[in-house]
Amino acid sequence: MYIKNIKADGFKNLKDININTHEKINVLYGENAQGKTNLIEAIWLLSGVRSFRSTKEKDFIAIDGDRCEISLDFDNGERVQNVSIAMSKQSVRDKKVKLNGVEQSGASKLFGNLNCVVFTPEDLELSKGSPDNRRNFLDLSISQVKLSYSKVIARYDKLIQQRNALLKTVNLNDGGPNWNLLVVYDKELAKLGAYISMLRYNYIKKLSYVSSKLFDKISQGRENLDLFYQSTAIRELEGRTDYETRMKEEYLSAIKNSIEADVHSGFTNVGVHRDDLIAKINGLSARDYASQGQHRSIALVLKLSQAYIIAEEKGNTPVILLDDILSELDKKRQGFVLSEIEKMQVFITCCEKIPEIYDGRVFEIKDGRII
Ligand SMILES: Nc1ncnc2c1ncn2[C@@H]1O[C@H](COP(=O)(O)OP(=O)(O)O)[C@@H](O)[C@H]1O
Ligand SMILES: [Mg+2]
Repeated sequence: MYIKNIKADGFKNLKDININTHEKINVLYGENAQGKTNLIEAIWLLSGVRSFRSTKEKDFIAIDGDRCEISLDFDNGERVQNVSIAMSKQSVRDKKVKLNGVEQSGASKLFGNLNCVVFTPEDLELSKGSPDNRRNFLDLSISQVKLSYSKVIARYDKLIQQRNALLKTVNLNDGGPNWNLLVVYDKELAKLGAYISMLRYNYIKKLSYVSSKLFDKISQGRENLDLFYQSTAIRELEGRTDYETRMKEEYLSAIKNSIEADVHSGFTNVGVHRDDLIAKINGLSARDYASQGQHRSIALVLKLSQAYIIAEEKGNTPVILLDDILSELDKKRQGFVLSEIEKMQVFITCCEKIPEIYDGRVFEIKDGRII
């Protein structure tokens, strides 16, 4: 899959951008704060995913402007499709989202058409930082190959919020008026949670398989990487498909066992929102033992594996967005990443022209314009 052209006007500092992109390598280069990441962010938003910078919708529009429009054509191997988002300051809520000219009810409706994998400098901390980031990584990666999963996650998250609010109103001694509702919530949570656990476990199995091969390469055969799913609710996940029966029951009893702690803390302590993706290098937990360089290698390998799994399951390579990543990496890791994505379209931002670009296009960006 590749993007053929991009238009952006009024999105943050971007003005009159209208470029034909190269099928393989596209370098966006320019000094700091000129709009390189904004352009990457525009592509990402057009893939139907919330901003990786968590920009609020009202901040899409240039501070001194009243409307913005971003749009691109991409070729998915079968046909050329167009995705666009337009909005005006007066009515941010009425943004116009279109797929091939047909209006959609929201940007999330674009999801599943243009597939992108983004690498940002923060991602280099994936195996080091908070489990939140790893869960988000997992959930997005799974949604990219199984569209319906994102709705399940959204329902689960909403239910957790409702349950946490409810926990503050119940009473361990006499239950209180909302106790019955809590019982209803818990059944629903167990149903969704068991299903999510199963899908995440299966995804990590694939991820681990692909990642271990890549890690072998990046470490030149010196180290091996294994990935595991750490579940707070279900003891054994290998080979299980009984998410509608026994897994659900086990999950429910794990929630019930922690009800006392939950009521005390006003928070749900057990469930897929507390689970984690564990990486081990040569048998040692990466979070506890890995060096900075090893963390970077893990992050790169995880993201590359995400891209490979999309390519395999969707029969179509995703578009790779590398935002300020290459300058963060040593020559060896730079070379590794570039050679692994050779067959995919890539957008690279950087502050200098990269000399070794042979098959691609270079765009210089200054004050939000391509010059
Ligand atoms: N809503 C907005 N309106 C106008 N300019 C904005 C808006 N949001 C961010 N910017 C500007 O965008 C620039 C940063 O762009 P960015 O793409 O992050 O730069 P870089 O080229 O370093 O990646 C800054 O100058 C910032 O002030
Ligand atoms: Mg930037």
